[in-house]
Amino acid sequence: MRSILLGIVTFLVIVPDLAGQEWIVPDDKKGKLSTFQFDENTKKSGEKIYSVNCISCHGTPGKGNFLKLVPPPGDPATDKIQLNRDGELFYKVINGRGQMPSFKNALSSDEIWHVISFVRSFNSSYKQLIMPVITSSAYPGAVIKMMLSYNSSDSTIVLEADAVKQNSSVAVTGAEVKLLVHRTFGHLQIDDIKTTDINGKVAFKVPANLPGDTLGNIQVSARFINEDTFGSVSKDTILTAALITLPVSLVAERAMWNNVRKAPVWVILTYSLGLLTALGFIGLVLMKIRDIFIIGESVLKDSEKINIT
Ligand code: HEC
Repeated sequence: MRSILLGIVTFLVIVPDLAGQEWIVPDDKKGKLSTFQFDENTKKSGEKIYSVNCISCHGTPGKGNFLKLVPPPGDPATDKIQLNRDGELFYKVINGRGQMPSFKNALSSDEIWHVISFVRSFNSSYKQLIMPVITSSAYPGAVIKMMLSYNSSDSTIVLEADAVKQNSSVAVTGAEVKLLVHRTFGHLQIDDIKTTDINGKVAFKVPANLPGDTLGNIQVSARFINEDTFGSVSKDTILTAALITLPVSLVAERAMWNNVRKAPVWVILTYSLGLLTALGFIGLVLMKIRDIFIIGESVLKDSEKINIT
């Protein structure tokens, strides 16, 4: 018995620990890079943000004085954190896990990059890669922005891609794009791979029977096929572009006590007849017991009479 208990305890201690060791970042998030160069200013700004938001758990970088949590937060100056790619650090800070809070709403992406800039300053062998400046000669040095919208008149999701540089913006033309819808397990591609037109626009046809959530919402994301040329840009948006799908309760339709209207007549009849028969039998048995009782009483009375005489 003790060994079983010991086994269970070891299991409970070891399993979360194992699970805690590897923090897997989705492949398409690992390659994310800052769009600006890290320098003294970004480092200084990052240091401030770090001392407000991170130092309480991760301690002073290089001192190893992080909180003893399970799994441990780790010292940002060590390999544990430095072996992450920039995109992995960004993902982990944005999303958090377990006791590591999510900074999605607390910090802007620029602020997160500043913190990463500060953290990288403790790694002398770090060489920063910047988000690939678009190599296509049409948009040198620009940042590509995508926008998604739903056009209900012809059930299409329209993507518009623009290359923004300082204050000017030009349409990204001739770029192949694919559109994915998030499903419970994985992604579903909508329509074919399409190429942006002269206005940087492309329309994807939404299938008429595409199920959404209770409001008809779906989460879609668009991506360039040729990321080397156009940068690893993707756009995630929620659009009300699908059928409203109400979750069906497991007992809503078939259970006869739940919804008489939907139960077939023969089921109700069989059920009621069965119930009546069963109740009838119980009644019959009770009546027989009563009879036995009455007979017993009369026999007792008779024997008393015999005794008296
Ligand atoms: C409340 C405590 C806490 C705070 C505040 C906190 N962290 Fe963490 N952090 C953790 C813990 C605990 C882990 C380990 C999580 C895991 O592995 O499941 C962690 C993990 C990480 C990792 C991943 C390390 C790895 O193994 O790859 C990074 C990067 C990180 N934190 C950065 C930051 C930054 C940057 C900040 C501030 C903006 C911050 N953390 C604030 C507790 C904290």
